[in-house]
Amino acid sequence: MRVEGSIRPPGDKSITHRALIIAALSRTRVQLTGVLTAADAKSTARVLRQLGAGVGQLRRGQGLEVRGKAWRRPKGTLNCGNSGTTARLMLGCLAGHRFESRLTGDASLRRRPMRRVTEPLTAMGAVVKEVTRDRLPLSICGGSLSSSFRFRSPVPSAQIKSAILLAGLTGGVPTTVVEPARSRDHTERLFRYLGFDLEAKGKEVSFKGPGGTWPRIESFDLQIPGDASSAAFLVAVGLLADSGQLRIENVGVNPTRAGFLTVLHRMGACVVVENEAEVCGEPVADLVVSPARLNGTEVTATEIPGLIDEIPMLAGLAARAEGETIFRSVGELRVKESNRLVLIAQNLRSLGATADVDGDDLVVVGSDRPLRGRVDTARDHRLAMAFGVLGTMRGAKVELSEAGSAGVSYPGFFEDLAMVMTR
Ligand code: S3P
Repeated sequence: MRVEGSIRPPGDKSITHRALIIAALSRTRVQLTGVLTAADAKSTARVLRQLGAGVGQLRRGQGLEVRGKAWRRPKGTLNCGNSGTTARLMLGCLAGHRFESRLTGDASLRRRPMRRVTEPLTAMGAVVKEVTRDRLPLSICGGSLSSSFRFRSPVPSAQIKSAILLAGLTGGVPTTVVEPARSRDHTERLFRYLGFDLEAKGKEVSFKGPGGTWPRIESFDLQIPGDASSAAFLVAVGLLADSGQLRIENVGVNPTRAGFLTVLHRMGACVVVENEAEVCGEPVADLVVSPARLNGTEVTATEIPGLIDEIPMLAGLAARAEGETIFRSVGELRVKESNRLVLIAQNLRSLGATADVDGDDLVVVGSDRPLRGRVDTARDHRLAMAFGVLGTMRGAKVELSEAGSAGVSYPGFFEDLAMVMTR
């Protein structure tokens, strides 16, 4: 297979959620460009509309105006769909609002842990009622929160950190979050872009307030970069190709997200970073990828938060590399959209590769054997895309149980894949 041409990944999912939420919390009009139009972003938009914000339809290639309003008690249950970020960030925002809201999600989201967020929010003063321990659906009633809050998170998670910072914003509470390792910092960057008083030092983030009258958010324009996690699949296609070169334009290369590039370089990949620029507080660049023979590597526990969503794709690449690759301490993969830890290993084995889970580590041994077999995606978008990419290789035959889940984060993924490949 040969790759050629240039392509732009869709808008960053993490930044889109945050931008929509902050815009909806403002009492003014906000202009967003580069918004992701995938199912997860639509879940956040829908929930914000239920709370009273004016959020238009999310359409690819079009700017979006959001009219922020004072939030009101929603009429129905807030359905977060498949989106953990929607559920956890909204819980944070709602902790600062004096009305009760009920949140739920699809079958996958209803299996994911929520106490990691509801426990600190309860400690801040929110009242949470669960039906099933640690799971959606649940209701939250916020209001009079403690006068300040410091939280030491047991898990490096941007969703936990952001939920607390957003509760601090909506509840008028100075907050500090300390993480065991640094997670993605999009919330911090957006807060700073808006002129909020936020200090980040190493693994500790302190938010003192938005400045002016709390919680005032001035009107703003924001340009959202392409999603690094979506770009990672395109990078992989370029690396696995037999010949050619692929340019992936306008990719967010925030260092707390671009850990996969560091690991790929260590594995011997040739990914050139060009046209680096800073756009609305986030670093952006073009990535130029050429086919490469990869070597196995060890991905350390501290590297994991910076590439957590890229592990399905990196594991797939490791299956084609020379030697063994170990992903250390990736237990968090068990509580993603599916049990990714087990499913990555199981599906690689179904294709004839060697992969195993050893405690919380994932071990993949590379080979040249053609990958052939059936993959159970469990309707997890990143599994569908990662194994879809492996199926593009010469000699491979990968049958996906479904491919539609790609629309959760990357609508049109398989069309884009076909576009960059020439057989
Ligand atoms: C996200 C944080 C990560 C990531 C998820 C998006 C975010 O989750 O896996 O896809 O936007 O904050 P955790 O915070 O649970 O690690």
